[in-house]
This record gives sequence, structure tokens and C-alpha cells, in this order.
Amino acid sequence: MAESMVGLKRTHRCAEVSAANAGETVTVMGWVQTRRNLGALIFVDLRDRSGIVQLVFDENSIGKEGFDKAYTLRNEFVAAAVGTVQKRSGAVNKNLKTGDIEIVVTQLRILSESETPPFPIEENINTKEELRLKHRCLDLRRPDIQYNIMLRSKVATLTRAFLANEGFLEIETPMLTKSTPEGARDYLVPSRVHPGKFYALPQSPQLFKQMLMCAGYDRYMQIARCFRDEDLRADRQPEFTQIDMELSFVDVDDVIDVNERLLAYLFKEVLDVEVELPIRRISWQEAMDRFGSDKPDMRFGMELKDITEIVKECGFGVFTGAIAAGGSVRGINVRGQGAMPRKKIDALVDFAKGYGAKGLAYIAIQEDGTVKSSFAKFMSEEEMKSVISALDGENGDLLLFAADSNKIVWNVLGALRVEMAQQMGLLKKDEYCFVWVTEFPQFEWSDEEQRFVAMHHPFTMPMDEDIDNLEKDPGSVRAKAYDIVLNGTEIGGGSVRIHQADVQERMFKALGMTEESAREKFGFLLDAFKYGVPPHAGLAYGLDRLVMLMAKCDSIRDVIAFPKVKDASCLLTNAPDVVEDKQLEELSINVTKSEIE
Ligand code: AMO
Ligand code: AMP
Repeated sequence: MAESMVGLKRTHRCAEVSAANAGETVTVMGWVQTRRNLGALIFVDLRDRSGIVQLVFDENSIGKEGFDKAYTLRNEFVAAAVGTVQKRSGAVNKNLKTGDIEIVVTQLRILSESETPPFPIEENINTKEELRLKHRCLDLRRPDIQYNIMLRSKVATLTRAFLANEGFLEIETPMLTKSTPEGARDYLVPSRVHPGKFYALPQSPQLFKQMLMCAGYDRYMQIARCFRDEDLRADRQPEFTQIDMELSFVDVDDVIDVNERLLAYLFKEVLDVEVELPIRRISWQEAMDRFGSDKPDMRFGMELKDITEIVKECGFGVFTGAIAAGGSVRGINVRGQGAMPRKKIDALVDFAKGYGAKGLAYIAIQEDGTVKSSFAKFMSEEEMKSVISALDGENGDLLLFAADSNKIVWNVLGALRVEMAQQMGLLKKDEYCFVWVTEFPQFEWSDEEQRFVAMHHPFTMPMDEDIDNLEKDPGSVRAKAYDIVLNGTEIGGGSVRIHQADVQERMFKALGMTEESAREKFGFLLDAFKYGVPPHAGLAYGLDRLVMLMAKCDSIRDVIAFPKVKDASCLLTNAPDVVEDKQLEELSINVTKSEIE
């Protein structure tokens, strides 16, 4: 039977009670973690978001009625206990913050009862994520998830405080808006008042923050919800949160400066980790050449080596063919893995194929110096020697090679490098390796659309020295864009924006956009730009990703209170769901296809 808490007031969270309170009367409230009966004594662990405290029930202290009531406590009952704090009579529990004390209860109320939960409310359970997300409310009680959610709150609070102190204003931008230019699919919201018309949920506050700069709010920040209808992965959600900012009268270095200090502040305050400043910067080209990725994990080496020059005239058709087609041959040295069994190497070949490779060539140097290789027979001894030496191969090393277009070679070896590091245990979660990747290409060629598309977005400023190539050689133009990468995850990105109408026009042209289509999409921004626009630049972090790495989690679902699963549905609320015909009618919507259950 649920009792009321009238007349009681919580004095402490469970784990806030300490030996300093010995002798005091305290009132705690929380969920029953465990109950143990020891004859004349009953021990109950009571839990709230601060942790656990041990309650002791002794008939002499609480009386028979209270003792009997304690006997009825079950897991996840909500209870209030008034009692006296004392040093533990039994052994001290070193694993608990409150392990040296207990509360001898004099008054107990059962505020609410609980059915048996579908999984234990504990850390590190093996329960299937599906079940956890269906009962997310219970899952959110588990200490590891609570730690993540509290860490997230702390990051948000400290970010606001830091940026406010740097002169940033927190300004909200609309959720019901027009399509924004981040390149994913939009989530649309039908308008009742304007039949046949739709709002788009923002993919980011990009255009609004640029208009805020036009409006003179020279430093803006927002912890903003963004919506992107794209395929989900471990580090992607359809709705996610950005720490978004924009600054006026600045260039690349100014944005990087304030953000480095923000990151150092957050890591120091939240994790007591020193981030060494300045954070190193590498160009996109260097990132691709050395790590095969624009978000390089630099906690370990295993860098890519280009052997195109060495093998361009060798007898191995796979290599020479790729080179003749304009591609390259590159390899990585996986130290100490030369004895890898054939089966495992075959698995790596399949892995590489998953990233677009046609195959994966290897040289496995045995401890005795003999060599096993998938292509030695096509090469002269001299050539083999040169290849091995180019990769600094030593006895016991495994050398892996991909031959293809640069894009595929980077993609394959970039992924293999991380996979091997993972298998070899080189990825330490308590090591934080930041890097700025700068000088991104302005454009990317889209085979699908047969035109150049913006790599960041169409408002990104080209590098001063490359502007003149916008028409002549768009592929060579680099942008004033930068990403901040942590341990191989892109945690944030931004750019200096174009603020001159003529450059913007040239940009739209280079993107194959007509004046009309640019106006239709972004007319309101272009209009705002007619009336005095300051040079401006900005950046946005994926808050979920940042917190995921700070909390040492593998999935952003573990740092989002109510996340969605792979097919973008919510297992807790069952969204998205069908709606009543009447609602559809009001919205002038006719559903032509429905899911067959
Ligand atoms: P961008 O598209 O790079 O830039 O997004 C910024 C950061 O947001 C995070 N992110 C995501 N996190 C979770 N789920 C997703 N689906 C997802 N998509 C992106 C990433 C990314 O680095 N308006 C620009 C920023 C700017 O130029 O100022 C923008 O949105 O961590
Ligand atoms: P093949 O002549 O196609 O049987 O290939 C000989 C070896 O080269 C095999 O080990 C293949 O896995 C490997 N290989 C094939 N295509 C490529 C490629 N594009 N890059 C690297 N190795 C490849």
C-alpha cells in the first residue's frame, strides 16, 4: 500500500550521507536495491541518483509494525526512511561511497510499490538493448546510465557558463522552418493552415545563426536540437543535439582559439583531464594521405604509405592496373601480426571488400625472415625488398595493401587501420587525442548527381589563395572549413562563411545552382546579406558524440535519455505511429502507402 510522504522532508540524497553525519537524524528517500534478512536485523540498500546507502532495521529501534513493514520491501519499491546515522557495525564496504556508515531506521514509509522489473537495475548488465529501451524508464535508473546523463548535464551547464563568460548570447532559433543546407533528408511537418505545404525541421540552425550575425548579435550560442533523416549508426541519431555557435569579425584562428579553450575547460572540469593546447592541426590532404580518413584516430600510428612509384612497373597486374586507371597503391604495416593465420587474413580481405576494395594484398613477414605473400610471385626480389622497406617492414610484421582509386584506397586502409588497432587493443578509452582537420576540399564530385556538391555547405568560404580557381578548377579549391576530431570521431565542424554577394554567386554557380533555385532555397538569407553583413564564422559540436567519448561509451544511445533505434523508431513510445483519419483530413493528407504489419 502506498503511503504519503506528508510530514517528511528529504534531508540528504542517499550517498550524500557520510560519517560526518554520525549521530544525526536524517531522512532519505529512494528505490530499494536489495533487502537481506539476518534474523533480528533487516538490511536494505536504498538507491537514488547519488548512489546507495545501507538502512538497518532492528525491531528495538523501529518497533514490530515497522519491522514487519520492512520485511515487505521488494526491489524497486520507493521508500522513505528516517533514522540515525552510525558507523557500520559490520564490515566496511570499500566499493560504496557510504560503505563506512549505515542508517538505523526509526520510521519507514513505503511511498510506492513495484512489480518485479524485467531486468536488474544494476551496472553493466547484459540485458538486450531492445528490452532496455522498451523499459527506458527503468534503464535510466541504472547507475552507469545515470552517470552518463548527469555527465551530459554537466557538460551542457559548463558550456553555457564558459561561452556566456566569453560574451556569447544564447538565442533560440525555430524548429518549424524551411529546409537547411546540411545535405541530409528533411523531416517534414505538414501545415494545417496551408494545405499541401510543409515545414522542415532544422538539420541545424545554420541559416538562422548567420542571420543573427547580420542582425549584430556578434557571438551566438545555442544547445540546439537538430533533425536529419539519414541512416543511423552508432554515432548517429535522427534527432541529436548540437552545441552551436557563430561569431562575427573573426577568421579561422579565432574560432579555433575559443573552442580549444572550451574543450580544455570541459575536460578539466568534468574528467580532470588536461588537454594540451594548442591542439595539433593537419590539413585534410595530410589526414587522408597519412591516415586514410578525414577523422583520423591518432592514438596510434600504423600510417598509410604510398608505394605507387615503387610498383608502377612491377609485374602484378592488380597494382599496375589500378595505377594506370589513375589510382594508387598504398599499404599499412601491422606490427607483430606477421604470424596471423590465413583464415584471419581472409577475414580481413572480406572486411576490406566491405569498404569497396576489390581485394587486399598482403606480405606476412615471418619471425625467421621468410615471407608469405599473395603477390610475391608477380614481383622481382628487388621490388619486394623495396616494398617491404617502404613500409619499414621487419620480421614478424604484416603488411596490407590496397590498389584502387585514391578514394577507395583511403577508405579501405583507413578502416583497416582502425580495425587492426581495435583487434590489437591499441584503442584506449581514457586517452584523448584531439586534432583539427583543416583545409577541406570545397567540393566533392557526386557521381550520382554528375556535378560538384559542397563538402560542408554552400556558405563556406574558399581559402583566399584558391578563390580564383572556383571556375577554372573547382576540384582543387580548398575551403576555410575545419573539423575537430577526437579519437577518430568527428565531434564538431564549422567554417568561415562567405559574406560577399559576388563570391556567394560564384559558389552557387560552381555548384550548378541557378539563381532562381538559390533564391527559392535561401532567398531570405541572401536578402539579409544585402543590408550589411559582417565577416563571420562558426562551429557546431555534436553534443551526443562529445559526451559519448567523455563517458567512454560505444554508442550515443547510452548518453541520450530517450534515443531512437536503427529504424528511427522509439521503442518506448512506439513512435512513429499511425494517426486518426480525422487528423490526416485536417492536414489535407492522403496516405498512399502504409506499412504492412
Ligand atoms: P555538421 O553537419 O558537421 O555541421 O554537424 C556538426 C556536428 O554534429 C554532429 N552530428 C551528429 N550527431 C549525431 N547524430 C547525427 N545524425 C549527426 N549529424 C551531425 C557531428 C558533427 O560534427 N551547421 C554546421 C556547423 C557549422 O558550420 O557551424 C553543421 O551542422 O558531431
Ligand atoms: P587476383 O589476381 O585477383 O586473384 O588477386 C591476387 C591477390 O591480390 C589476392 O590476394 C587479392 O586479394 C589481391 N587483390 C585483388 N585486387 C586487389 C586490389 N584492388 N588491391 C589490393 N589487392 C588486391
